[in-house]
Amino acid sequence: LSDDQGWRIEIPSWPDLTAIGGGTQVGGGPGGHYTQEGFAELVRYASDRFITIVPEIDLPGHTNAALASYPALNCEGVAPSLYTGTEVGFSSLCVDKEITYQFVEEVVREIAAVSPGPYFHIGGDEVEKLSHDEYEQFMVRVQEIVAMQGKQVVGWDEIAEIPLLPGTIVQHWRPSGAEDAIAQAVEQGAVVVLSPANKAYLDMKYHTGTVLGLNWAGYLPVEDSYSWTPETMVSGVSDEAIIGVETPLWSETLGTLDDVAYMAFPRIAGIAEIGWSPAEKRAWAEYRLRLGAQEARWTALGINFYRAPEVPWSAEW
Ligand code: ACM
Repeated sequence: LSDDQGWRIEIPSWPDLTAIGGGTQVGGGPGGHYTQEGFAELVRYASDRFITIVPEIDLPGHTNAALASYPALNCEGVAPSLYTGTEVGFSSLCVDKEITYQFVEEVVREIAAVSPGPYFHIGGDEVEKLSHDEYEQFMVRVQEIVAMQGKQVVGWDEIAEIPLLPGTIVQHWRPSGAEDAIAQAVEQGAVVVLSPANKAYLDMKYHTGTVLGLNWAGYLPVEDSYSWTPETMVSGVSDEAIIGVETPLWSETLGTLDDVAYMAFPRIAGIAEIGWSPAEKRAWAEYRLRLGAQEARWTALGINFYRAPEVPWSAEW
């Protein structure tokens, strides 16, 4: 719901977040945001379909849109310009100012009020501007703020490097470098959601010729996105510590819902199956037939899916 390039949800106590910070997007253009009522409607729509929306406000980095909206949130008291590029890591809330914690408390409270689910995602990724101690000082306080609202913290795997409240959910995303910290966090009572970028990021291109998407974690053909096992992904993190998988779809290269569908389908079906079927019941040779059989359904629904040549579309099984 927030990033460097835009703030996307109405917060009544901090109206400039959307009035200023919501008015941009990657590459320029008008941006946009959810009203509180619009977000509540989305939560209801999902809930009617047995889906829990987990709100994420990325902290303390990925915050340029907020920093541009309120000068007081900056250490120097000066708002930076709005940002429409795609490099990230450069922004941070000012961890030494009390108003920062008031801001976080009010944002978390107002979003928690329209989010009936048990979770609140506080981001925590890609903070290049702070020392480890500054990061820890901030994130320890933010965890307490979230707990005060009765929510369980979710954070990207960088949070595994700081003291965590019991039951905190660490979301694995970096293909390498985070394993030891995640394993240690699990030893201290954290649980894990797996979304390794090189297997589960739907914004990775299928192959070198894919026009949409990115390739910083490599190319991700349909077979590779299906053929991995959560239980063996991170050494020291066993089945009992894993509560699920997520397949993120970052949208800085995607301008339309057809673009979104093209990157999501067919890979999203495979990760759903990884989430609900044990490893010994999964095999690409058999799965590809069942996947191909989805063609009629997706065509009827008007879904702009990628017709991967390795899948026998129109298959019967
Ligand atoms: C992330 O992709 N920065 C979580």
